[in-house]
Amino acid sequence: MQSMRIEIVTDEEALATRAADIVCDLVAANPKAVLGLPTGATPVGAYFELKLRSDSGRADFSGVTAFAIDEFSGARRGDAGTNSAFFRQHLRLPLRAIHVPNPAAENADEHIRAYAAAIRRAGGLELCLLGIGANGHIAFNEPGAGRDSRARLVILTQETREQHAPAFSSIARVPARGVTLGIADLLEARALLVLASGAQKAGAVGRAIEGEATDNVPASWLREHGDVTWLLDEAAASALGERARLAAT
Ligand code: PGA
Repeated sequence: MQSMRIEIVTDEEALATRAADIVCDLVAANPKAVLGLPTGATPVGAYFELKLRSDSGRADFSGVTAFAIDEFSGARRGDAGTNSAFFRQHLRLPLRAIHVPNPAAENADEHIRAYAAAIRRAGGLELCLLGIGANGHIAFNEPGAGRDSRARLVILTQETREQHAPAFSSIARVPARGVTLGIADLLEARALLVLASGAQKAGAVGRAIEGEATDNVPASWLREHGDVTWLLDEAAASALGERARLAAT
């Protein structure tokens, strides 16, 4: 666990502030940073905090390029529930550019491979933020995704589709498939910052950090990265054993 940092903060609000601190420090040092960004409830507070700092002139994102790490497949860009709709609503930052895979791409597999190649051409991700699913998924790498998996079209689990049903207004409207960067693509980012908040994530966080590295818990492969930070609130950290807690800051 030498290359893994675990930071435990009190609650969701502290998590948003700390995540924003980490992103702002990186952008101050590298104003043209290329970031990988997740959707989900977890990063919303951090994205809002970044907007406050941008609006008040405390941070400048005008040189930053962002790439979404996944998207649904089989929807129109901007449809309610898609990741492009999420970013329009929650990431209100004057970035240089934000890229999101096209959910309507006809050849989705080819599209997401070209998207991953575009990230490499942009110099790769300086920092990739990640959420974690209660089933241990990371981006749309559902259980079964291997350490060497690459950008591809995937079938979403029922659990993941249920998680997104409210945003699409019903489970029937949630696409059955998604496109995602693979685990190997995510591990190529120079740094990873995994955010988790709430007791419903405690089991997945515990398995990812302390369980065996396995395709059944895709997030467990993140331990192979040389610079990964797990930023957790107390509830999400509650299943960690003493050893991990002692190592935490
Ligand atoms: P959440 O989703 O932030 O909405 O909990 C995280 C994820 O499923 O990756």
